[in-house]
Amino acid sequence: MNETPLVMRHIGQLVTMNGGATFSEAFAVINNAALVVEGGNIVWMGPDEELPANVEGVELDVLGALVTPGLVDAHTHLIYAGDRSYEVRLRAQGKSYMEILAAGGGILSTVRNTRQASDERLLQETRRRLSRALLAGTTTVEVKSGYDLTADGEIRLLKLIRQLGQEGPWRIVPTALAAHAVPPEFSGRSQDFLHYLEAEYLPHVSDLARVVDIFCEPGVFSVAESRAYLRAAQRQGLSIKLHVDELADGGGGSLAAELGADSADHCAFTSQEAFQAMAHRGVTAVILPGTARYLNHGHMADARAMIEAGGWLAIGSDGNPGSSPTDSLSALMPWAASWLRMTPEEVWTAVTRGGARALKEESRGRLAPGLPADLVVWDADHYNFPVYYYGSPLVKEVYVSGRRVAV
Ligand code: NIG
Ligand code: FE
Repeated sequence: MNETPLVMRHIGQLVTMNGGATFSEAFAVINNAALVVEGGNIVWMGPDEELPANVEGVELDVLGALVTPGLVDAHTHLIYAGDRSYEVRLRAQGKSYMEILAAGGGILSTVRNTRQASDERLLQETRRRLSRALLAGTTTVEVKSGYDLTADGEIRLLKLIRQLGQEGPWRIVPTALAAHAVPPEFSGRSQDFLHYLEAEYLPHVSDLARVVDIFCEPGVFSVAESRAYLRAAQRQGLSIKLHVDELADGGGGSLAAELGADSADHCAFTSQEAFQAMAHRGVTAVILPGTARYLNHGHMADARAMIEAGGWLAIGSDGNPGSSPTDSLSALMPWAASWLRMTPEEVWTAVTRGGARALKEESRGRLAPGLPADLVVWDADHYNFPVYYYGSPLVKEVYVSGRRVAV
């Protein structure tokens, strides 16, 4: 812990996200602010001119910069071996994501690499991705398993995720996604694979992850299969979330509402009715606009439908080797605004408190006395700028629990 207090002064705008309890009310900002950190937590924040005179500590003048909470990326698949850059050529020839997967490539080619990789190689590769995420302003990141597809191998991945979380400085939230694809050993027998996971895998998850995920999509796992598997997870006391409606409206959004999932992710083809049901049930929609655009299928999630239904929305990177090769959530902010028709306030909410809500990590993604000082200092004077100016890295400094961790 950093014991010498840090006094951050002359913050042009401090986005606190400490407004009301709904998605539309969460955004809040203090102009000309100061912030005091002690023991890793914020102990005071407010207008710079009101900074108590008796505060002592290392003073840092940020010269009018924008400061925000560290970003919360609620959806990544960052633990895997190798890359899939060869798919660029296949897509140029007109092959779709599902065609590449059906031919044994796609997720299954990353599964082959990941099964063969040593623990050390997986740790090294994943560390590089997490470091890049941190440099891009992500301080809390969900990491899913899902590139082994055997019970033992998936448990190995969850243990490696736990190890990376213990190393820090990032905060990692693990998710158990063994039901990510049907492995070659169970080809054409998706239901048998899920029964195998129910028996051999789910009973061992609870020490390593709080939440179980599944790729609920026509051609992968059906709504009926997903329902049965997720109910089994719930019976084990685990929470659930789903990949839904990524490539077609398969009814996964409605299933997420029916089962009371923590979140339903992708939602590129989700109907207005399903968004309403999710909003009603308190399911966060984690929208992954980079994936929809990268797959180039011409559909974007109807973010406005979710917002108008009064629901919570997060934006995630979906960082993975196939459909969204990135580790940067901040790079997506201008695109989320443009493609999803979201205001700057809505985009900030979706990459901070929205992500934290999806992950049930409610002490993250917002700034208030008593909460961890996970902060980003931006090369920007006001909060509209990082939601508008694309392609150039705008992150100047990153703090996790009050410690400066990356430049
Ligand atoms: O969220 N849809 C399933 N999983 C990832 C893709 C994983 C991969 O292609 O390796 C996704 O898009
Ligand atoms: Fe995903």
